[in-house]
Amino acid sequence: MELDDDLCVNECTRCPALVESRSRIVNGGGPTDADLVFVGEAPGATEDELGEPFVGRSGTVLDDALRDAGLTRADVRITNCIRCRPPENRDPHVEELANCKGYLAEELDRLDPELVVTLGKVPSEHLLDRSVAVTSEAGEVFDARVGGTAIRLLVSVHPAATLYDRSQEETFESTILRAAELAGVGESGGGQSRLGEY
Ligand code: URA
Repeated sequence: MELDDDLCVNECTRCPALVESRSRIVNGGGPTDADLVFVGEAPGATEDELGEPFVGRSGTVLDDALRDAGLTRADVRITNCIRCRPPENRDPHVEELANCKGYLAEELDRLDPELVVTLGKVPSEHLLDRSVAVTSEAGEVFDARVGGTAIRLLVSVHPAATLYDRSQEETFESTILRAAELAGVGESGGGQSRLGEY
């Protein structure tokens, strides 16, 4: 077992360039029994500074879409393919993805979620192990295997894509709605219990 009880890696020096560029390891955040898990690419500058995934501009886009689906961060787990910020925010190298894959596999195995949503090209290709045309495959569900763990995977565009291409907004928002529905969480999964709020 490589992760602690909170599914965190506390020490790792497998990738020399990332050890150099990071100020900390950014572990996944959210409940350790979440039914819905989001997997991004890698921490950026804000995530590296604050030690949490998706807390910069992409995180705001994700939070807005979660809210529209009747969810908050407390309802979902959010993690990344790699846990250390790459220099100049470059894409993770193949070896770096491979070095970190065991951690992600163990995290998913222990979470045993209903659904994993891959945010963007890098996580979609990493977990499906093939090339993915994210814009056209967004909203599609696939069966995949990460390490020894079978998962149900929904492809999504990266939240940042909506910031430079407004036409991606609707694709992103409807994918998050679909995710909540498939995982049976949020407004779609709350059923009668939500009536108690009024
Ligand atoms: N983009 C990602 O893919 N992951 C983060 O944690 C932040 C931005």
